[in-house]
Amino acid sequence: MLVTVLFIFELICCASAELHPLKGPIGGPRGQSWEAKDDLLRQWKIIPDIIDDLPTYKIKLRFSDGWYPTFFVHLMPNDTTIQTAPVSTRWPIESNTTLYTLVMIDPDMPTPKNHEWREYRNWLVGNIPGNSTFDGQIISKYQPPQVPHPGGAHRIFFLVYKQKQKIEFEEKLTDARYDGRERRNFCVRNFSRKYDLGEPVALTMMYVTWRMPI
Ligand SMILES: *[C@@H]1O[C@H](CO)[C@@H](O)[C@H](O)[C@H]1NC(C)=O
Ligand SMILES: *[C@@H]1O[C@H](CO)[C@@H](O)[C@H](O)[C@H]1NC(C)=O
Ligand SMILES: *[C@@H]1O[C@H](CO)[C@@H](O)[C@H](O)[C@H]1NC(C)=O
Ligand SMILES: *[C@@H]1O[C@H](CO)[C@@H](O)[C@H](O)[C@H]1NC(C)=O
Repeated sequence: MLVTVLFIFELICCASAELHPLKGPIGGPRGQSWEAKDDLLRQWKIIPDIIDDLPTYKIKLRFSDGWYPTFFVHLMPNDTTIQTAPVSTRWPIESNTTLYTLVMIDPDMPTPKNHEWREYRNWLVGNIPGNSTFDGQIISKYQPPQVPHPGGAHRIFFLVYKQKQKIEFEEKLTDARYDGRERRNFCVRNFSRKYDLGEPVALTMMYVTWRMPI
């Protein structure tokens, strides 16, 4: 039984699962409830590629030009808005002394079909007091979404995990803007297991395409 579980685990985390083509409207109907996002996440293979269930909360991001992306917003990688880290990150917190970990990943690197670098780590901050991400400990400095080749749009996820206590992270600091190698083949499920983070409590996502809009 344990062997089977580990095998499935490995299959999911080691970039071997074929990604299904993305279909359907982006973001779902306007005004749709958060619970209804569960279907959307399954349709887009976020469940089960990355997470097992819909987290309880949505993460609200704000970028430097005042822009708030909506859930599953469609962007170009050269969109100036996303070239720097969000200036504000919000999710419902238990208290301002509870510590959280924020992860931003791209499971579709370098292309959705040939995602041999799954999962690519764009941003990783741990020991965040409440939602004050900028008071947290940077493990990977924000790197804007990279879409190096044509061949489909990338799903970019932001996940927040609630920590049980302060964590001494072993991961090497990745702080250069384009230091791709160390960021490749991250596995958020393994990371969560290693530090006993459980399931994410909050999520949001973007969808970044290489192609010119029509
Ligand atoms: C992004 O790239 C597209 C295609 O090359 C170009 O048409 C568009 O103007 C660029 N946008 C920005 C903000 O540079
Ligand atoms: C944290 O919460 C306490 C009590 O609710 C409050 O007094 C304190 O000012 C808060 N600290 C920050 C940094 O918001
Ligand atoms: C955290 O959330 C509170 C209320 O939800 C908000 O007032 C505060 O600005 C947030 N902090 C950051 C860094 O976004
Ligand atoms: C995740 O953990 C499994 C089981 O320990 C391991 O076999 C696999 O290589 C890990 N995946 C990554 C991408 O580190």
